[in-house]
Amino acid sequence: MWLNSRYTVLAALVAQATAVTQITDANMTALLNQGGVELADRYAPLWFFGEALNEVPCYPTWAFGGSPDSPDVYDTAHRTAPAPQCEYPDVGCKCRNPGVAAGSPGPAFPIYYTVQRCNETEVRVVYNLFYEKDGAEVLDLIETGHDYDWERVIIVHSRNDATKLWAPSRALLSAHSGYHNIVWSKIHSTLTTEEIEAGDAKTPAGVQNNDHPKVYVSWSKHAHFDTRDTIWVDPISQSTDNAFRSDDWWYYVEQKYYIQSDNSTAAGKALGSTDWGSATSNPPYVQASVSSNPQGRKETQKKMWFQKTFTLPSRSRGSYLITDHVLSELPEIRDYKVGMLNLFVQHTSCALSLNENWDEDVRADMSDALDRIAPYDKKGNLYRHSAEGEDDMPAHIKSALIGASVTIPISNGRLATGTWQGIWHLEFRTSRHSRKVVATIQGEKA
Ligand SMILES: *[C@@H]1O[C@H](CO)[C@@H](O)[C@H](O)[C@H]1NC(C)=O
Ligand SMILES: *[C@@H]1O[C@H](CO)[C@@H](O)[C@H](O)[C@H]1NC(C)=O
Ligand SMILES: *[C@@H]1O[C@H](CO)[C@@H](O)[C@H](O)[C@H]1NC(C)=O
Repeated sequence: MWLNSRYTVLAALVAQATAVTQITDANMTALLNQGGVELADRYAPLWFFGEALNEVPCYPTWAFGGSPDSPDVYDTAHRTAPAPQCEYPDVGCKCRNPGVAAGSPGPAFPIYYTVQRCNETEVRVVYNLFYEKDGAEVLDLIETGHDYDWERVIIVHSRNDATKLWAPSRALLSAHSGYHNIVWSKIHSTLTTEEIEAGDAKTPAGVQNNDHPKVYVSWSKHAHFDTRDTIWVDPISQSTDNAFRSDDWWYYVEQKYYIQSDNSTAAGKALGSTDWGSATSNPPYVQASVSSNPQGRKETQKKMWFQKTFTLPSRSRGSYLITDHVLSELPEIRDYKVGMLNLFVQHTSCALSLNENWDEDVRADMSDALDRIAPYDKKGNLYRHSAEGEDDMPAHIKSALIGASVTIPISNGRLATGTWQGIWHLEFRTSRHSRKVVATIQGEKA
């Protein structure tokens, strides 16, 4: 009996070593009343950053000119400038990088945190990280990135109905699109507070259900993951769940670098009212919907419509290749990872088509062939509608046959046309005409 109970105690101790720390209702209330920084710290992630292709990443930093030695100054003059994009794979150029050799702890950075009690049984703590830019550009063709980046981990604390004790139940890791929503006990690697205090980082690995998750920040675009993955280094993979992430540097953010950033604080007011370009998910913005958003979907405008009207060079009868003109009018195509471009000409005596882009003879032959199908009314006995000239009614017929629009898929910032396909403007009137085209793009941005 005695032996048995001693073993029970031992087993309980062992179990405790890999169990997340629970807190009482009263203690949760006390932690929230103190502003939540202690709560945030007790379950904070250990952050990892990696280097791929010998290129350092952008590293989190202060949003208003702060540093490890001085706090942010929340006015326009101190807003951290966006860093310019560089050619892939130089993702860390001109922005803050770890600045120390790989294989060691990284320098300090701040957490812009917010805490919200959603209801009697749920509390959410948001850990926001700020970057001077996102991604890189690829051969001037694909802008995988943009100015600034706000990314975050949200830790959901739940109160157990039976025991009335609180513990983290899930982590939401901001990713390329939305969040990785991971049940706490399934997070790949966690550490105890003792291990954190001892300075442990890479080891132990694969131990679950402790207080501190290991969070890996992807190399180029700062998405969050609970695992390493060093296989894919190509530009496209960086925008997917295959994004490269590793453990070359790590940092556990000291409590003094936690900055409360809801809209009741100077930090939150400044962060919420500043234009961060397309990085719209600033901390107070996220905070405003953190509870009403149970799945934790990211509120960024990834699915986008775009529309613009442009004029084609005015031409007389003939078939013209306009692919280059269209691309120069629509640099926006590059922003779309996947989408559709529709071009619609607002006239009834010309047409748009897709056809051969190499041999000019094909275009001349096409115009001639269409003339044979719908000939000019030389004798004046073919058509009723003749007031606008002998070329007019044939132009309407050809326009109906060929059509006023083309729709072309967009894939990774490019028109997904075949090697020999070009966009044609077919002009059917004999004299020069100016033609307006409405371009509409729908799709998901990179
Ligand atoms: C609650 O807080 C008190 C005072 O800080 C502390 O002594 C106690 O261990 C805490 N208990 C739990 C379960 O968090
Ligand atoms: C502050 O945030 C809360 C939600 O977190 C929201 O209800 C309130 O309207 C915000 N106030 C301002 C001034 O933005
Ligand atoms: C508490 O809030 C969370 C987040 O909004 C929600 O998912 C949950 O259902 C709520 N629970 C209760 C009991 O209202």
